[in-house]
Amino acid sequence: MAGQHLKDLIAAYGRRDDLQFRRAVQAIIQEEEAKKHTTLARDLTRLLTVNSSSVSFNEAPVLPEPPLDRDSSTPLASISMPNRRLNEQVLRPDISHLLQEFVEEVGRWPELDTAGLPRRNRILLYGPPGCGKTSSVEALATELGRPLITARVDGLMSSYLGETASNLRKLFEYASSGAYVLLLDEFDSLGKLRDDPSDHGELRRVVNAVLQQIDAYDGPSIIVAATNHPSVLDPALWRRFDVVAELPLPETLELQSILFRILRGRTDLFDIDSTAQDLVGLPHAAAEFAAYSAIRRSVLARNNHVSSAQLKAAIHETTQRRWV
Ligand SMILES: Nc1ncnc2c1ncn2[C@@H]1O[C@H](COP(=O)(O)OP(=O)(O)O)[C@@H](O)[C@H]1O
Ligand SMILES: [Mg+2]
Repeated sequence: MAGQHLKDLIAAYGRRDDLQFRRAVQAIIQEEEAKKHTTLARDLTRLLTVNSSSVSFNEAPVLPEPPLDRDSSTPLASISMPNRRLNEQVLRPDISHLLQEFVEEVGRWPELDTAGLPRRNRILLYGPPGCGKTSSVEALATELGRPLITARVDGLMSSYLGETASNLRKLFEYASSGAYVLLLDEFDSLGKLRDDPSDHGELRRVVNAVLQQIDAYDGPSIIVAATNHPSVLDPALWRRFDVVAELPLPETLELQSILFRILRGRTDLFDIDSTAQDLVGLPHAAAEFAAYSAIRRSVLARNNHVSSAQLKAAIHETTQRRWV
């Protein structure tokens, strides 16, 4: 295939230009036909037709580039369109209900606005690592049909304190430029900053600036703060959030549910039940790890079915390693 067509193809993808993309593929098909590569030409034509109903580049949202730290030129956040769904998350029923309700509520903001009620747009999620904070925020963004902006709070801290304040301002301005979900991950690093013995008042100003940004936020985005260490959060922080939810370690039933979703049809139900028992005390992510480890073992042994021994070995691998 001529280099120029390949370049056209990539350029068209970069611009999400459906028409240019199709023209480039057509040119490649004609060229392959001329070279008598009929099978390849036919396959390409078929692929182009199949994709025409399911893929439209023109519909792909163009996401604005996140702001940069002036000093290091590193992005202050990342932006993505997640595709995880809330019903794929294994959450305690009350938390699941809370998040579902929140999604519905955001869809009905106009009614609440008319009634003169303040919007609930600040969420705090806390709990041990691997129990679904980040993944639930991704699911929330998907359900709301909003892009997700992820910023690590410690990543906003510049070596120049003045720059940190400016980073925060830039991040919140960015999040206010549209309807997004803004995830402030590692939120506890703010609390830690307060305790920092080198604190000469400057750092305190930064912490207060974050609190003020959150307090004063009335833009179209939803702000979600997530932390593994709620104990280091300043007591003054909690009341600034409209929704506060704990995502704790899973109970046996939740572990079972994760194993079942991944291992369904590959192993005996009885084995799943006993495996879940063995994982009590570990996070959701560990159950996921164990399930994939078991399947990997069966695939490498060229079996379709996960045997009890393979499951046992997977549990051993999971419980022997460190999770937190
Ligand atoms: N509650 C959950 N339900 C389903 N999968 C989960 C859950 N919690 C964690 N996982 C799985 O473990 C991985 C890590 O979880 P994550 O949400 O990043 O944890 P956290 O942000 O709380 O540390 C996720 O990508 C997901 O696949
Ligand atoms: Mg996380």
